[in-house]
Amino acid sequence: MKIIFIGAPGSGKGTQSREFIDKYGYVQLSTGDLLRGAIIQGSDLGILAKNFMDQGKLVPDEIMIGLVKNYLTSQSEKSVILDGFPRTIAQAESLDLMLKSNADQIDKVIYFKINPQILVERLTGRRTCTNCSEIYHIKTKPGKASGVCDKCGGQVVQRPDDKEDVIVERLAQFEKNTGPTIEYYRTKKTLFEIDGMQRPSIVFEEIKKSLGLLI
Ligand code: AP5
Ligand code: MG
Repeated sequence: MKIIFIGAPGSGKGTQSREFIDKYGYVQLSTGDLLRGAIIQGSDLGILAKNFMDQGKLVPDEIMIGLVKNYLTSQSEKSVILDGFPRTIAQAESLDLMLKSNADQIDKVIYFKINPQILVERLTGRRTCTNCSEIYHIKTKPGKASGVCDKCGGQVVQRPDDKEDVIVERLAQFEKNTGPTIEYYRTKKTLFEIDGMQRPSIVFEEIKKSLGLLI
């Protein structure tokens, strides 16, 4: 099964992905996490990506498509949540071709709908583990000890792109590029809209139901 989580920055894609990993053994392909990993390693990809990410811009399609192709080839048998990919029409069309050549397809696209006004508070208050990518929030989901991940003991920090001026640009990129991508899936009738402003546990239950997961 292949599922896409699509939505604005801070809409809850990563938070819900982690629930599906823990409870149903899904594999998560978070393109943002892959890029942040490359930055920490100091690889050529990381050096290139950092420039775009720090400004809130999208990393060029050809780089992202190559990255995802490699990943999906290595995980072809598994149930995968694609978190943060595709976010342009070009990425969506390439993904369709990749999967088709493997007699595979996207089963469902979950769109996290959210009022942009609440995103700044969600994102400026978010903290993320640099080791396992666990997601916290200083007010609504603080860790037990400041700066330390409850799950793995890794370092918990603020993402460099979670600053207000960068958030504004990320939201603009979402409107410009990902808005049309959402419409692309709407016409294919694979889109399922979720109210991302509900409590995380309710959002989880609604996604579960949409996927036909009963337990
Ligand atoms: P990426 O890492 O994918 O960031 P994003 O899409 O901007 O989304 P976020 O991770 O910020 O938000 P989220 O929806 O996961 O929210 P979360 O669950 O953490 O991409 C980063 C950058 O990489 C891009 O800007 C781009 O440069 C590059 N990139 C990545 N993919 C690319 C691609 N395909 N093409 C080109 N470039 C690409 O939640 C946020 C906060 O809210 C948390 O603190 C959480 O605790 C809280 N929260 C979550 N759910 C709820 C809820 N229901 N109620 C209250 N609080 C909640
Ligand atoms: Mg995320």
